[in-house]
Amino acid sequence: MCGIVGYVGEQPALDVVMQGLRRLEYRGYDSAGVAVLGSDDELRIARKAGKLANLDAELAGTELPGTLGVGHTRWATHGAPTDRNAHPHRDCSGAVAVVHNGTLENFAELREGLTERGHSLSSDTDTEAVAHLIEERYDGDLAAAVREVAKELEGSFVLVVAHREQPDLVIGARRNLPLVVGLGDGENFLASDVTAFIAYTREARAVDQDQVVELRRDGVRVTDLDGNDVEGETYHVDWDTAAAEKAGYEYFMLKEIDEQPEAVAETIGGRLGRDGRLRLDELAISDEDIRGFQQVVIVACGSSYHSGLVGKYAIERWTRLPTQVEIASEFRYRDPVVGRDTLVIAISQSGETADTLEALRHARQQGAWVMAVTNTVGSSIARESDAVFYTRSGPEIAVASTKAVMTQLAAVYLVGLHLAQIRGTRDGDEVRSHYADLAAIPRLIEDTLTRMDPLRKIARDISDAERVLFLGRHVGYPMALEGALKLKELAYVSAEGFPAGEIKHGPIALIEQGTPVVVLATRHALSPKLVTNVQEIKARGARTIVIATDGDDSVTPYADHVIRVPDTKSLLSPLLTLVPMQVFSAEFAMARGLDVDQPRNLAKSVTVE
Ligand code: G6P
Repeated sequence: MCGIVGYVGEQPALDVVMQGLRRLEYRGYDSAGVAVLGSDDELRIARKAGKLANLDAELAGTELPGTLGVGHTRWATHGAPTDRNAHPHRDCSGAVAVVHNGTLENFAELREGLTERGHSLSSDTDTEAVAHLIEERYDGDLAAAVREVAKELEGSFVLVVAHREQPDLVIGARRNLPLVVGLGDGENFLASDVTAFIAYTREARAVDQDQVVELRRDGVRVTDLDGNDVEGETYHVDWDTAAAEKAGYEYFMLKEIDEQPEAVAETIGGRLGRDGRLRLDELAISDEDIRGFQQVVIVACGSSYHSGLVGKYAIERWTRLPTQVEIASEFRYRDPVVGRDTLVIAISQSGETADTLEALRHARQQGAWVMAVTNTVGSSIARESDAVFYTRSGPEIAVASTKAVMTQLAAVYLVGLHLAQIRGTRDGDEVRSHYADLAAIPRLIEDTLTRMDPLRKIARDISDAERVLFLGRHVGYPMALEGALKLKELAYVSAEGFPAGEIKHGPIALIEQGTPVVVLATRHALSPKLVTNVQEIKARGARTIVIATDGDDSVTPYADHVIRVPDTKSLLSPLLTLVPMQVFSAEFAMARGLDVDQPRNLAKSVTVE
């Protein structure tokens, strides 16, 4: 996650770009920077670590005159959040300014080649390599240079580029991450989302995969990477600046649910090296130590605990390491058996949850290794761990977690594969095949999101229910727990999640005529048993809302409502079934007139035990 703005027009570019960055700060606030092209053909740059306010302070009293500019607000991935790593980045001559959102998988090779060819790189970022590559390719045609460079890049990117010899041209390029054009009168805009330019124009044009935009005062041209013109869809944005922070959504939560394809792409992207091996470089635990582990213990709270439960299935399957998942607040008080041979994985969106922090401190005192899975760079849990995996989901504002949980799921799968690769319990082909399945997930989440209207209607129809049950088996069980937690948090309804096989041992007594039961019934080896469980509750009068895989009709005869999700490997199905859990709860709560961003009694980051 990073926010990006490009502008060419008649107004002072600095004002337009800074206003755009203010709207995009939700995408990251590790640093911010701008470049403005003056009428003297000088590209002047200002950049500062920390929130946009720091850049504002830096700019006070200085002038960056000019009517063409680019800007960036950063969510750090490659390189610490320092002034030096803040965007824009430049080439050796200072002629090129580049801002970038995304992760370049081949950046190490690119940097190495550039250094060998005599370039001097001054930051730790992957982005800077792009500026130098453009310097090499540029012969007066900036768009052609960017197209050529884009072909060399592996991974995800949105690039916005200015050149001091081009006073009427800003270039944008896109792969996997969002970029949109704002169409003005005598001025045009590029941005990560329309909120950045909504104060100036509501006319927008989408940019597709592997396309390059040539933005001029009087026109916009979009081509593919070979320079062929491409047609594009323009559209009118029908909300205004007041709604901009929420990008037109009524609640941040709804926006964050929709951001999940991009968030997961960020988590997963750039993890496969040229040699075909999974690379989680930030996990600074040596291969030798990883081979010495005898057990894994996952500690977490709330929704993060449910991600941990899914992690248990993946880690045990792939590594054969015994894996326990512990509620963090219980962990240290029962004298757990952990030591030098134990990997403790602490999962926390905020990285500040006191229960989780205390659990990891206890584990470290016992000599265990601690790996953090967190969304927050520099958080306490990140700082106090031996290794950190950042989930890169971008800032999450709604109190109840959605996209952060989704990226935690993606993270625990990657960590499981990483451990399996190093311990040799899965061969290279299998690791690559699982990674390919994970890489397909963002598209499948996007597909899942388009199918949610019927579920919204059901949620509204039953929103006066005071009790809802959730059932699942295998990895469907943690998602049943998450569905129930979400409904409790958002709608203040009594909701419980059970392993479907367990209902006959007690919970079935809760079922009366019309009791809503959400069943996670995606295709799995246990599906026939689950079908039996659904029959059992149906026979007692339950109103069954069944989440089923495309093409699987085994359970549908017993369903009052069927919601389909795309097919994927059964172990990965939580990455898709999580979506209906979120949408159902949010819609249910909204139908009851509740504020889903700030549910009563809850806090986003709970820093007390
Ligand atoms: C709070 C939030 C939950 C979250 C839990 C753990 O209770 O309301 O949504 O799952 O904390 O937070 P963490 O930041 O540690 O993931």
